[in-house]
Amino acid sequence: MSSEQTLILVKPDGVKRGLVGEVIVRVERKGYKITNLRMLTADRNILAKHYAEHEGKPFYEPLMEFMASGPIVAMVAEGERVIEGFRKLAGATDPTVAEPGTIRGDLARDQGTKVVQNIVHGSDSPESASREIKIFFNN
Ligand code: RTP
Ligand code: MG
Repeated sequence: MSSEQTLILVKPDGVKRGLVGEVIVRVERKGYKITNLRMLTADRNILAKHYAEHEGKPFYEPLMEFMASGPIVAMVAEGERVIEGFRKLAGATDPTVAEPGTIRGDLARDQGTKVVQNIVHGSDSPESASREIKIFFNN
């Protein structure tokens, strides 16, 4: 498979805890190249686009609120099979069961909040990646 791109977000919990560098180090040490990066506080408009697939789910509103609760860092990472590779680095969605060695498994745990706070987002397919990169980097 040829080189591809993925969108990575360090979510508000990761930024608040000072884990931006830790995430970047893990991505770079794995061998992926970060080709774009910005910090922003996401508004509802941008989050509604990014999380359109989750609209109507029970965790949608808490997720929107959490993701707008503070600054996030958006980045584009590039490399062979980076979409799959970053999802492996991130670990399972639920940080309590995410494998040790992964970002979520090493650095997060259940906080008893309405929505799972798990430090990072990573695109889950080439279609999602190209759609999501445009949301965060096209203006
Ligand atoms: P992400 O999109 O953030 O990389 O995470 P993911 O693919 O592992 O998880 P996804 O199913 O896409 O869900 C997006 C985010 O919503 C929150 N979530 N909470 N039951 C819950 O409380 C629940 N389910 C999902 C998490 O923050 C998850 O990462
Ligand atoms: Mg997802």
